[in-house]
Amino acid sequence: MLQGKTILLGVTGGIAAYKAAAVASRLTQAGADVRVVMTAAAAKFVAPLTFQAITRHRVVLDTFDEEDASVISHIDLADRADAVVVAPATANAVAKLALGLGDDMLSTTLLAHRGRTPVLVAPAMNVHMYANPVVQEHMETLRRRGTTFVEPGEGFLACGYTGKGRMAEPEEIVNALISALTPRRLMEGVRVLVTAGATMERIDPVRFLTNDSSGKMGFAVAEAARDAGASVTVVAGRTDVAPPRGVEVVRVESTQQMYDAVLSRFPEADIVVKAAAVADYRPVAVADRKLKKTEGADASLTLALERTPDILKALGERKGPRQVLIGFAAETHELEKHAMGKAAAKRADYIVANDVSRPGVGFGHDTNAVSVYTADGLVEDVPLQSKRAVAERILAIGFEEYRARTAPGSDET
Ligand code: PMT
Repeated sequence: MLQGKTILLGVTGGIAAYKAAAVASRLTQAGADVRVVMTAAAAKFVAPLTFQAITRHRVVLDTFDEEDASVISHIDLADRADAVVVAPATANAVAKLALGLGDDMLSTTLLAHRGRTPVLVAPAMNVHMYANPVVQEHMETLRRRGTTFVEPGEGFLACGYTGKGRMAEPEEIVNALISALTPRRLMEGVRVLVTAGATMERIDPVRFLTNDSSGKMGFAVAEAARDAGASVTVVAGRTDVAPPRGVEVVRVESTQQMYDAVLSRFPEADIVVKAAAVADYRPVAVADRKLKKTEGADASLTLALERTPDILKALGERKGPRQVLIGFAAETHELEKHAMGKAAAKRADYIVANDVSRPGVGFGHDTNAVSVYTADGLVEDVPLQSKRAVAERILAIGFEEYRARTAPGSDET
């Protein structure tokens, strides 16, 4: 599992830093390419040379120490890591990670990590520091964002106290990493159909109506479903980012094309997630030649628009008893009312509502915060976190429903 994987090992300043050398050694022996970033405090406990000798890579300490001019070190390290391990993590390191502070090489590297690969944190600190509600709140924040904690053990601490705060043993940390990197293929055999991006409605050969969807949310759902073992088809309109590998991608432009592509694939789908931002209107007539500007006093142009077909509604009308249909709702106010209304009107099992007026939420961002509704009310609030982590929650809700409907003895089997 670790063979050929790039593991970023962050070492912060605690007495347990000496045990991080054993973590680095085990990872290296298991075939991983281990890149160590130390804080200045960590380097007071263990010499960087120890890690350099174990990993055969220069240890990075200083944000401004750019060895390779073709890359920015902290961004490059974050991008290349198949997993991040922070061991030991002091209370200060946990706080910086939770608050998004970046004032040294390790914290800026962790900030640049996009949350697409596992982050494991092995805290080590005094028992009272560990029990402090501030530390626990920071840990809770990080857990919600997808960080895995390798819990400290209980025992004699270097500070003289006995209690919880000893860094987990290197073997435990390595095992937790292996388990985080082992794909959980819970959705093996499940067919997931996702829509992503923005539809485009042509005005003439060089102009179109569209919206700000980047495709990130839909692609995150597709990626998470793929990683869970599902077979995935994404019907994608205009997007700003590349689709994930290992999924079938069907490119479309207009709402009508998305309608045709989705409806023809719907009978084979078990779970449908409609994250695309679909144009509600299109020009009544599409000019086959570029429209020319009019000059003079009356230079305005009026476009006659008509409604596009409602894909989600069409799916709701055709839905089989075992199929799970999940729509989205991009709203700026009265989220609950609109989401529940859409679930009922479109016969969707769930509506994932995002308040796109909030910072970091909705169009274009790498993060999202959503509330999942049925026609009857709220199912779950999913707080602000990476779109990938939000996607996993949405899929977990959809998959649980699918499992219930397909379980032996269920009304739908
Ligand atoms: O792509 P990103 O930049 O990551 O941004 C993500 C997002 C903001 C686009 C996404 O989170 C989101 O909210 N997608 C739905 C946007 C939208 O079209 O919302 P709506 O409230 O207008 O539509 C409700 C639902 O009906 C949606 O599932 C939509 O796909 C569907 N619909 C709408 C119109 C139409 N003609 N046919 C449809 O199927």
